[in-house]
Amino acid sequence: MIKINDRNHLKYVKEQSFGTENSGNMIIQGENCSVLDSLKDNFINKVKCIYIDPPYNNGEKYTHYDDDKKHAIWLNEISKTLEKLKCFLTEDGSIWISIDDSEVHYLKVAADKIFGRKNFITTVIWQQRTTRENRKVFSNNHEYILVYARNPQKFKLSRNLLPPSSEMLSRYKNQDNDPRGPWQSVTAHVQAGHAVKSQFYEVISPNGKKHSLPNGRCWSYNKERMEQEIINNNIWFGKDGNGVPRIKKFLSKTVGITPETLWMGNDVGTSDRAKKHLLSLFPGSPVFDTPKPEHLIRRILEIATTEGDLVMDAYLGSGTTTAVAHKMNRRYIGIEVGQHSLDLVIPRMKKVIEGENGGVSKEINWQGGGGFGYYYHNGNKNVLAIDELKENRLKYSI
Ligand SMILES: C[S@@+](CC[C@H](N)C(=O)[O-])C[C@H]1O[C@@H](n2cnc3c(N)ncnc32)[C@H](O)[C@@H]1O
Repeated sequence: MIKINDRNHLKYVKEQSFGTENSGNMIIQGENCSVLDSLKDNFINKVKCIYIDPPYNNGEKYTHYDDDKKHAIWLNEISKTLEKLKCFLTEDGSIWISIDDSEVHYLKVAADKIFGRKNFITTVIWQQRTTRENRKVFSNNHEYILVYARNPQKFKLSRNLLPPSSEMLSRYKNQDNDPRGPWQSVTAHVQAGHAVKSQFYEVISPNGKKHSLPNGRCWSYNKERMEQEIINNNIWFGKDGNGVPRIKKFLSKTVGITPETLWMGNDVGTSDRAKKHLLSLFPGSPVFDTPKPEHLIRRILEIATTEGDLVMDAYLGSGTTTAVAHKMNRRYIGIEVGQHSLDLVIPRMKKVIEGENGGVSKEINWQGGGGFGYYYHNGNKNVLAIDELKENRLKYSI
C-alpha cells in the first residue's frame, strides 16, 4: 500500500484491495483532475507512460457513460486533464492519447499547446474494426493515437524496438544450411542519390559471373567490403549461384523492428475482440461499450516501457490498461470516476491476479500473482462514501 496522506482526500480501502500487499499498484475511484492533484507530490516525474482513452465526444450514449458534451466544454475539460498529467512524466516518458475523427484535430492543436509542438512524436492509426458498416456513407474503421514525449531525444533513446512478428519470422529460412542459423536476403544495392565513387563497380560472384548495377543504383558496400562479405558467405547468389547478389540478414542478429504508425486489427485487436474478451470474463453482465483490446495496450507498453516502469491511465474504463500493465510486470495507477471502477475493474483485476488466460495472457505466459490497492477520492461528489462501497461489495459479491 502506498502511503498517501489523508489530507489529500485519497483513502485506501483494504476490503476492495486484493493480492500481495504493498504492490504499489493503485486503482482509484475519483474524478481524474482532483485525483491527480492528490497524487502530484508522490508521483511527479515518476510515470514512464501515460495512456488515456477519454470520452471522444462523438455524440454517443453508452451504458456506462455519456459521450455527448458541448465541444467547448469537452475541449476545456480534456485540456485541463492533459495539463495536470504533464508533470507526472519521467524525462524519457511519453503520453499516448486515443481519439477518433470527431475531435482529433481540435485535440491535436490543444495538446500541441500543452506538450509543445516539438514534443509531438507521431499519430498512430489503429484499425479498430475489420468488418464493414454498410449503413454509413463511409465505413469508418480507424481511430487515432496521438503520441507526445516529454523530451523526444530521451524518448528515442529509451523507447523499445518491437519483436519481429511471426509473419516476419517465417521469412527467415536457411537455404544453404548456414551454421549461423536462419537468414533472409535483402537487396544489395540502394538508390544512388548520395553514393560515392567507390560504390560503383561490377560484382564478381564465386562462380565468376559478373553483375552490374541497375540504372540509378549503387552497391550498399564499396568493392573491398563486398569482396570480404562474399568470402564470409554473407552474400547470396541464389541456389544455383547465378542470381543477383543479395545480402544475408541473420535472425540471430535481428534485435527488433522499428514501430510503424499503421496498426492493423489483426495484430493489435479490434473493438469487437476487446468486447468479446470482456464478455468471456463476465458472461451475461452489461457490456462495457468502449473497451480497448489488450493487444493494443500491450503494443504501447512494449514500445514505451520496460518491466517495473510506472504506467498511468486517468480514464480507466473497464481496466484494460491496468490489466495489461499487471500482466506485463509494469507498476500502474488507474483512475476511473464511474461506478464501474468497483463493479467491473476490481473483478477484472482479481481475475488477472488469479491467472486469467484471455487477452494477452497466453502470448506472454501470464500465470497470475501480484496485487493492487484500491483507493477512493473523497474530494468529489461523484465518488462513493465508504459505507456505500461496503454495500456495493455485498451487492456485487466482490
Ligand atoms: C472510453 S472509456 C475508457 C475505456 C478503457 N480504455 C477500456 O479499455 O476499458 C472512458 C472512461 O473515462 C471515464 N471518465 C470520464 N471522465 C472522467 C474523469 N473526469 N475522471 C475519471 N474518469 C473519467 C468514463 O467513466 C469511462 O469509463
